[in-house]
Order: sequence, then C-alpha cells, then structure tokens
Amino acid sequence: MAHRVVLDTDPGIDDSLAILLALASPEIELAGVSVTGGNCPLDNGVHNALNVVALAGQPELPVYSGVALPLLRPPLTAPETHGDAGLGHAHLPTSEVPPADEHGVDMIIREITAHPGEITLVAVAPLTNVALAIRKEPRIVEAVRHVIIMGGALRVDGNTTPLAEFNFYVDPHAASIVLHSGMPITLLPWDITKDILLTQEAIDQLLQISSPVSTFIADAARFYIDFHLTHFGFAGCSINDPAALALVFRPDLATITPLFVDIETTSEVTMGKTIGDFRNESGHPHNVQLVTAFDSESFLQIFVSRMEMLADRTRTA
Ligand code: BDR
Ligand code: CA
Repeated sequence: MAHRVVLDTDPGIDDSLAILLALASPEIELAGVSVTGGNCPLDNGVHNALNVVALAGQPELPVYSGVALPLLRPPLTAPETHGDAGLGHAHLPTSEVPPADEHGVDMIIREITAHPGEITLVAVAPLTNVALAIRKEPRIVEAVRHVIIMGGALRVDGNTTPLAEFNFYVDPHAASIVLHSGMPITLLPWDITKDILLTQEAIDQLLQISSPVSTFIADAARFYIDFHLTHFGFAGCSINDPAALALVFRPDLATITPLFVDIETTSEVTMGKTIGDFRNESGHPHNVQLVTAFDSESFLQIFVSRMEMLADRTRTA
C-alpha cells in the first residue's frame, strides 16, 4: 500500500524537485503540498508549487498556502540560492488552478487526525507550519506516523551562517517546538545532504528527453549549480529536499542513530545552531533518529530515473 504523505515546502528549487519526485513515485500517495515562506516569499512559493504540480501533469493536486513569516524572527529568503522568484532560471506557465481554500496548517492537522497512524509528514522548509499545527492541535504528535525533516547542521559548517543551516536558521523557534514535541522524527541534516550532488552530467542525460520537465529541471538546476560552485566550491547542486522525500519509500538508504538534538534560539551569533548530544552529556532521551550516512549513489539513480520517467510522460518530441 502506498504511503500517504503530506509535503511541507518552501519552493524553492530542491523543494520543487521533491514535489516532482513525490508525484513520480508509485510508493507515495501525495495528500497535498503545504507552503511556508522560506526560500522565497509565501506567495511566490505557492505559485511555484501550483506550477510544478501542473508541470507534472497533476494540476489538481492540492497546494495549501500556509504561514508567511517565522514565529518570532524577521523573514529571510534566499534569492542568491534559488533566484528571485524561487526557481532559478526556470519560468513555468501559470497554472489555472488556484490554491486550496484551506490553510496549510489546518490541512496538516486534518490529514493527520483523519488518518491516525498513517500520515508521513515530510517537512523540507522552515518548520513554521508544522510548529503551529502542533500548537493548534497537539494530538497530531501521537497521531502522525512519521515525520521526516530536512534541516540542521550538526558537525559541519552551516550553509546560512557559519553555524546554522537555512531551514533551522529561518525559524529556530519553530524548529525547537517540533524537535521537543515528541513526534517520531527522522532528521536529515545538511551534514549529509550537502554531499548529495546532482551534476550537470546527470542533467545532460535527462535533457536527452525533450520535455517541459527536463527543460524545467535543467533551467532551475543551472542556477542552483552555479550557486553551489561559487559559494561552496561544489561540483553539482545539493538536492536536499528530494533526498528527504525518498526516505519515505527507501528508508534503507539511510544509516540512522538515535540522538538528543537541540537548537539555539537566544544568541544572535549562534542562532539556529543545531546541537547533537552525541555523548549523551545531558542524559536526555533521544528525540530524533539522525541520518548519519546516506547512499547518495543509489538515491541519485532513483531520482534521475524517476525524472526521466516523468519527462517521458510529457515528451514533446
Ligand atoms: C534547505 O534550505 C533550502 O534552501 C532548501 O530548500 C533546503 O530545504 C537546505 O539547507
Ligand atoms: Ca526547502
């Protein structure tokens, strides 16, 4: 039976790739995509999500607008990473389908409470929507099946400040609420995802199929690859969010270790820093299953082959 998934996003180039991977994966029944402000302002993110589901041939897949701003901190977007509108050099036709009427936070609550023990929540954005869903309906903590979060930098430099990763830095208070909620969390941090690199070679392979899907991925990734090269010296772009999504149906890609993880929310200098208590100095019980290793090669094969399949479905020549 397919896993019913709620995908919380800030699309965003790699968020868009996560949406495409979800729609290309028979193991996943995507209940909806919720959006929060992050890589780009909320309205851009919602617009992008709608256009991406339409690109994949599923324009009616519901997209829910969520919370625009972090709980306490000022908003921070990432135009240098994802482009001014969030999708790099890609320009998609505007979907004719509007966002769903329901608020993203309410959709998360409704899905989890309507299907106790069945919903996997994949959260690949600042955790504002998820934190507010927990505060509004705490019973979702017990009712959710699994929460897979992309966020945090534990033993590596941050990608946004010297210490902090983007999703956790943008809304550290939300991350704190979620980490300490008691939800069954798998945490896929930047430590791992920075090395999951989609290369130009893989994109060139995808471009063998003439399709709006391959053109979109190539145009978005061109911007993302340039950023990663200039900023980090990487030979490809880190596709963080689809890697988190893949853990729904390929948990075996990850090596995990139970760990107590906390986040800094008070000091401006270290704001959003994720702390892993690897020696259990605090004595706290673990609150996440941390991904400590990941089979990038197998994941990238799955990712590229599913994007080829999606491109093939919408082939133009
Ligand atoms: C995370 O931040 C965003 O830029 C990406 O979409 C990803 O979710 C990586 O730190
Ligand atoms: Ca994201």
